[in-house]
Amino acid sequence: MLVNLKHMPSVTSSGAAVAELACFTPSCRARYAVTEVIYNCPKCGGLLEAAYAKPAQDAAALKKLFRERRMNNTPLDQSGVWRYRELFPFLDDWSHVVTLREGNTPLLDLPLAAQYGGLDRLTVKHQGFNPTGSFKDNGMTAGASQARRLKMKRVACVSTGNTSASMAAYAAAAGLEALIFLPHGNISFGKLAQALEYGAKTLEVEANFDQILALVRVLAEELGIYLLNSVNPFRIEGQKSIMFEMLDQRDWQVPDWVVLPGGNLGNTSAFGKALREAHELGLIPRLPRLAVVQAEGAAPFYDLFTRGGALRAVTQPETLATAIRIGDPVSWPKALHEVKTTNGTVEKVTEQEIADAKATIGKAGIGCEPASAATLAGIKKLTAAGVISRNADVVAVLTGNVMKDPDYIYKYHTGKLEAPGGAKIRSTFGNQSIVVPNDAKAIEKLLG
Ligand code: F0G
Repeated sequence: MLVNLKHMPSVTSSGAAVAELACFTPSCRARYAVTEVIYNCPKCGGLLEAAYAKPAQDAAALKKLFRERRMNNTPLDQSGVWRYRELFPFLDDWSHVVTLREGNTPLLDLPLAAQYGGLDRLTVKHQGFNPTGSFKDNGMTAGASQARRLKMKRVACVSTGNTSASMAAYAAAAGLEALIFLPHGNISFGKLAQALEYGAKTLEVEANFDQILALVRVLAEELGIYLLNSVNPFRIEGQKSIMFEMLDQRDWQVPDWVVLPGGNLGNTSAFGKALREAHELGLIPRLPRLAVVQAEGAAPFYDLFTRGGALRAVTQPETLATAIRIGDPVSWPKALHEVKTTNGTVEKVTEQEIADAKATIGKAGIGCEPASAATLAGIKKLTAAGVISRNADVVAVLTGNVMKDPDYIYKYHTGKLEAPGGAKIRSTFGNQSIVVPNDAKAIEKLLG
């Protein structure tokens, strides 16, 4: 599981650091050693990002290297994250890497979903095929590896479920103690069950995600625990690989749009950074546009994007897509920068729209969890509004596996799903099981 390959240099031939942490705030840009245990700029409080010297290879050599690595059986090359390691060289030694062979997720054509969304063609990059069933594994392998490099013993996160499932698994694989904080009563049982099964100490707090994040930051500081929420810049570095792998799978042909759900906005930040860096390195000739989709009851980023000014937090975020039930997203300055840089957009969708889009992705034989389906619901709205054209080349990122939230599925198909305010959600594409007697004749009659 742990990889032991050759050491990598921590300085370039000119003596400059290969990797540093930099403040994301344009007026500050203070720099720090990559080994400092900080999550915000000590000078101005801004978000931090990893910054690197240019890789030694040119774009053509990098593409060749990434492709050749698919033939190798070494754990580092088999990982769909570490295969692209020249694009996030923050470790000083590959032996720190903890990998469960994350990434390697498929690009799938979904004709039915394309039709539903008003497109000629739609491709999904399904991150639900990851080891713990969500895109969080791409970032967690990076964050957990940095935790080992820093010789941390305990790691912690607050989560709407997927981060915790992923952190529990990677902590177990890395021999770290995992402390998980969850909003009591507001995560799916599938995700809670994963944390328990992977052996994490799991605390359910009577508060929402945003409130618990503030609490966990204090505890991490006081107790010397390494924080693995997406405010951790190394998580973001790992999640960049979702874009690199998508582009590699398309032979570096750039789509017109990349559509993803937005919660705490770490993924939007990661995708934007990945695309900018790929562009700067000459791996792609232009940027695709990012479209971020939020649930109507938890849409502070949509508000920010459409109204301007600073982010106004939603104090009581509500959505059945519990993965994105977040009212005060920490990474909004990064995400706003990335959406604007790509000439992108932000949309919001209703509970009914999410539910029907989800059932449509399910009917394609693929399925995803509710938050992921916000992408298709958003695409439907954006094509209807003429923002995305019918013949556009669109990649939607499905962030979580269909089995993450079976309770939601069962309720939708049996007409028992209710929106947070109590409004009934129509079972538009409902599919109920039928109870039959143990009688061949009766069943024959039923099947016609
Ligand atoms: N989709 C799924 C399935 C998620 O679990 C999350 C976030 C998102 C989308 C939104 O991504 O936060 O980067 O904008 N889940 C986090 C968690 C918050 O704790 O598992 P984001």
